[in-house]
Amino acid sequence: MNNPLHTMCSYMAMFPPSVPHYYIERYSKENDIVLDPFSGRGTTVLEACLMNRKGIGNDKNPLAYVLTKAKSNVPHRGRVVSRIKKLESKFNPSTINIDNEPENIKMIFSDYTLKQMVFLRDNLKWPSSNVDTFISAMLLGVLHGKSEGYLSISMPNTFSMAPNYVKNFIKSHNLKKPDRHVFELLNNKLKRCYQKPNKKGKAYHQDVRNMTKLKDSSVNLIVTSPPYTRVIRYGQFNWIRLWFFGKTGKEVDKKLFFSQSMNKYCVFMTETLKEMKRVLSPNGKAVIVIGDVKDRTSDKVFNLAEEVWQRCAKPLGFKLVEPIKADVINDNTKVSKIWGKKKGNATKIDRILVLEA
Ligand SMILES: C[S@@+](CC[C@H](N)C(=O)[O-])C[C@H]1O[C@@H](n2cnc3c(N)ncnc32)[C@H](O)[C@@H]1O
Repeated sequence: MNNPLHTMCSYMAMFPPSVPHYYIERYSKENDIVLDPFSGRGTTVLEACLMNRKGIGNDKNPLAYVLTKAKSNVPHRGRVVSRIKKLESKFNPSTINIDNEPENIKMIFSDYTLKQMVFLRDNLKWPSSNVDTFISAMLLGVLHGKSEGYLSISMPNTFSMAPNYVKNFIKSHNLKKPDRHVFELLNNKLKRCYQKPNKKGKAYHQDVRNMTKLKDSSVNLIVTSPPYTRVIRYGQFNWIRLWFFGKTGKEVDKKLFFSQSMNKYCVFMTETLKEMKRVLSPNGKAVIVIGDVKDRTSDKVFNLAEEVWQRCAKPLGFKLVEPIKADVINDNTKVSKIWGKKKGNATKIDRILVLEA
């Protein structure tokens, strides 16, 4: 479960590989199809492929899509090494113009590093090539962080803090933009994270409520974790990585579910569960991890999993296979908690619904 490929790039609200591992073993067999319709960094997909199942992922966030795609079809190491070498030989800094790159990006990377990043962004042919998709995912994994293994100024978090926060942080810590050799960092990353599962999977980039690429009754098991009510802005907190896709955080957030309203959440989850039911085979199971959330103003805690069961899944004719389990997180690892009381309303309790269609 500690496969290094899982940590290729960090992703907010990712679940530990042990969660899908446990349920994949419990509710599926080899060669079954295991789907995560909110795949994030592709934890379920990779774990399924490592366990000789076909892992299929879907996510509307382009960052999640590329990470999932990279893990669902890992190319041979030799092809990745040759492609990095070929790209490096084609790179000519004097032909790359970075004048029009956003100022917020220019404050984080040196010109030397940014030119290589721009060249790679413009030349990597993802998603059509699985080698280029894999290199893109590695690049996103080394884009920003604290140590010399990252391309950016030293940043305390692996998710993107607001641009103004970053600006002030650079000023107050008197940070200098380091000249990093991107191709070298990519080769080092490859050494750290490469692993090839026996089985190939697939990745899609559709809204969860309308996954037209998936046929009726084609999936044996779903293991997933949907967004909760108003906890994380997946676009905004990834604005640096989204530069690679030519998108802003706001543009991406507009396409993802985000609401404080319990009624809107229930409408969204009902439509999601309907789609899950359509793609699940008879007797197929859906394992859904949903955390409790706190109301911002009243501090009241909502058991969201229970709401989803009572208001969404039960009326659609799902059966509860096991009593709802609570998973208490003892440390402060939940990313949405790190801002303290004010921002992010996740709690330390995740609950696990196991449903049968
Ligand atoms: C809790 S995260 C999943 C994390 C994942 N389990 C992992 O280990 O990385 C929820 C995901 O739902 C995605 N999402 C939100 N709204 C969506 C929608 N309408 N259609 C598809 N994906 C959506 C977000 O982009 C996010 O990646």
